Amino acid sequence: MVRTCLLGLGRTGKVVAEELLMSREFDLVSVITRPGSKKANRSLRELANINSDLKAVSAEKLTEEIRKKKFTLAIDFSTPDACLKNAQILAEHGVQIVVGTTGFNKLQVYELKRIAQRYKIGMVYAPNISVGINALLYIAKALARMTPEYDVEIMESHHRNKADSPSGTALKIAAAIHHEKGIQEQKLVYGRRGATHRDAAEIGVHAVRAGGITGVHRVLFAGEHDEIEIIHRSYSRKVFAEGALLAAKFILNRRGFFSMEEVLAYEEKDEAEPVEGSA
Ligand SMILES: NC(=O)c1ccc[n+]([C@@H]2O[C@H](COP(=O)([O-])OP(=O)(O)OC[C@H]3O[C@@H](n4cnc5c(N)ncnc54)[C@H](OP(=O)(O)O)[C@@H]3O)[C@@H](O)[C@H]2O)c1
Repeated sequence: MVRTCLLGLGRTGKVVAEELLMSREFDLVSVITRPGSKKANRSLRELANINSDLKAVSAEKLTEEIRKKKFTLAIDFSTPDACLKNAQILAEHGVQIVVGTTGFNKLQVYELKRIAQRYKIGMVYAPNISVGINALLYIAKALARMTPEYDVEIMESHHRNKADSPSGTALKIAAAIHHEKGIQEQKLVYGRRGATHRDAAEIGVHAVRAGGITGVHRVLFAGEHDEIEIIHRSYSRKVFAEGALLAAKFILNRRGFFSMEEVLAYEEKDEAEPVEGSA
């Protein structure tokens, strides 16, 4: 079994911990939490109501923990700053990394890639880690090519505590559609109010924040006489955990910086040969 470390025991991390503990391939041997967090030195049983006595350890002790627990894989669902800092330490020790954390700026993504290359480790950078969202992206790109004249609108809904809007996924879908349509300069319109004049190239992006919605993304392609709508609904955070384990399996024996698209393309082809990272 692959000795595995989880960094970040928040809403998503807890579900990933549960999935890792149920897995036959991964052995969750370490859980890292924020320096100064009240979660340090408390068990998963206490913190997440999971059947395990494994205790969370402060990120300040990460180097010590790597040496002690000898894990070879890490899955991160924390914050961009924390992830970058911890990734450097993990990479120095040859630990393979799956980054599920989102919200990195371009420079930080470049820094992650540089870490993977410099220390010759494998890293999956997956701001959209669920298989379903990747499938939606794939279909949206195909529709953009097939219906170039159709107007596109994206609607996303998330729980009331989501910190950002619109979601990074909605922006990624919009960018992919503009790219497929050959539109160089992105033209996004966020919500609408008052008099409107719709530009053919524009994509409307609408964000709903309400209740406990895990995540819904709808992409509407509307022509003069018909419309096509694709919808992805996450019922639970388990979709993120499933994606994280898929990425973890993929990265075990690889070096380089990979995207979730590459993980899934590999799954589709079921190739035997290792591939070079290109993300
Ligand atoms: N890729 C995807 O598809 C996907 C899906 C879901 C979520 N996410 C992303 O995953 C991240 C976590 O999401 P969430 O909803 O679980 O957020 P959350 O509930 O706020 O959890 C974040 C966790 O990170 C921990 N943390 C902060 N600094 C740390 C450090 N230095 N070392 C280790 N852990 C540290 C926090 O610890 P304390 O609790 O002690 O403060 C907290 O438990 C976000 O960036 C989110 O956008 C991505």
